[in-house]
Amino acid sequence: MAISQQVFLRDAMRRMNLTRDVFAARIGVKRRALDTWLLPEGSQEARAMPEVVGRFVTEIVENGALMEKYAQSAQSGPLRDRIAVDSKHQLLSVDQFSRESVEELFRVADLMQPIARRRKVSRVLEGAVLGNLFFEASTRTRVSFGAAFCRLGGSVCDTTGFTFSSMAKGESIYDTSRVMSGYVDAMVVRHPERGSVAEFAAATNIPVVNGGDGAGEHPSQALLDLYTILTEFSRLGKLLDGAHIVMAGDLKYGRTVHSLIKLLALYRGMTFTLVSPEGLEMPSEIIEQSGRGGHTIHQTHSLRDGLKGADVIYATRVQKERLAGDEPGSYSSAFQVNRAIVDECCGPDVVVMHPLPRDSREGAFDLSTDLDHDPRLAIFRQADNGIPVRMAIFAVLMGVEGLVQHSLRDVTWAPPSHIGPDDSVFHGMY
Ligand code: ASP
Ligand code: CP
Repeated sequence: MAISQQVFLRDAMRRMNLTRDVFAARIGVKRRALDTWLLPEGSQEARAMPEVVGRFVTEIVENGALMEKYAQSAQSGPLRDRIAVDSKHQLLSVDQFSRESVEELFRVADLMQPIARRRKVSRVLEGAVLGNLFFEASTRTRVSFGAAFCRLGGSVCDTTGFTFSSMAKGESIYDTSRVMSGYVDAMVVRHPERGSVAEFAAATNIPVVNGGDGAGEHPSQALLDLYTILTEFSRLGKLLDGAHIVMAGDLKYGRTVHSLIKLLALYRGMTFTLVSPEGLEMPSEIIEQSGRGGHTIHQTHSLRDGLKGADVIYATRVQKERLAGDEPGSYSSAFQVNRAIVDECCGPDVVVMHPLPRDSREGAFDLSTDLDHDPRLAIFRQADNGIPVRMAIFAVLMGVEGLVQHSLRDVTWAPPSHIGPDDSVFHGMY
């Protein structure tokens, strides 16, 4: 490139009429990475823009139709109205999102990072109460939604399992939801029946978030998964458009992959390889919906074949609690994502993910622990991202995202500089 990368990028942003924040989001890189490419050459923090980013931006500015697609479009009204379901501020499915709105949500999640990293506190949800209704097992979703609400200044009331709720006495979803709405300002619901959370949502006008409805969807998990992929790619200098994503495991009952593939299909030119044991394949209607954008979708029963050329491996657990009849209840050893097969089939910059929990019982052959200290394994960074993304979901649904920036105060306690033993490897990447 004859002109400097700084001039090139500034010119592209000016022609597309985009701010740095929006430009970074549109080309799928982190704002912090873009800032380092825009610093004067010779500055200590300045970084070279990856070639692939330069090619992508050139392609956009040289092609009128693409320019139109990526340039500033008129955003009308608050994000919560643009993603609303039946005019209600609820999150039931990833189908509510466009690429633009999902990236707008992620800019709110970026704002939450200083709070999630325990450097700042905010009270924008002071006085608000969250009802966490979990009728199925959960660690991450229940606790991180609760913690996200508390970190915004709200408080949380929980009910866990059927036994300890009046559903055990035969109370309907409608009655439960309407009664809860008199007590709390938002609800997160997990329930074993597909479509049940939409029933809760129909019985109330307060925000309801789907924390997992049977084998249906898990939209907040897919949002944090996509946020993780974009963050990891930004660190690695990769773009999501055109990436190869391998989803492996129980794709029939795994609701996280049902949501994630639809969200990833909002990007351009994706290749999806779906690897599952026989009988646990991805439902055909989800394949059909995700393939509509002209993406390439392969299906295979061989993990070794499927992993070749992967940019992301997304492994999943057998959803034993949902299996019917003769379906396989665990993976064979040939199906396990472990260090040997990742080394054999993938490059040094593959990102290995899993929604967790992984089944560590003998004979389960879920994602191996032998990758635990390998920087390619992103599972704990992925789980950590549950906090900023879920804070962003609440802030948007409750209409306070514009108040966050000016509400930040320093924390009064002293958190550790890195919360996990391996995190220092990534120090400075955010
Ligand atoms: N925790 C995720 C879910 O509830 C994935 C899993 O349980 O395997 O869908
Ligand atoms: N990923 C996830 O949903 O974890 P939990 O089932 O522990 O909530």
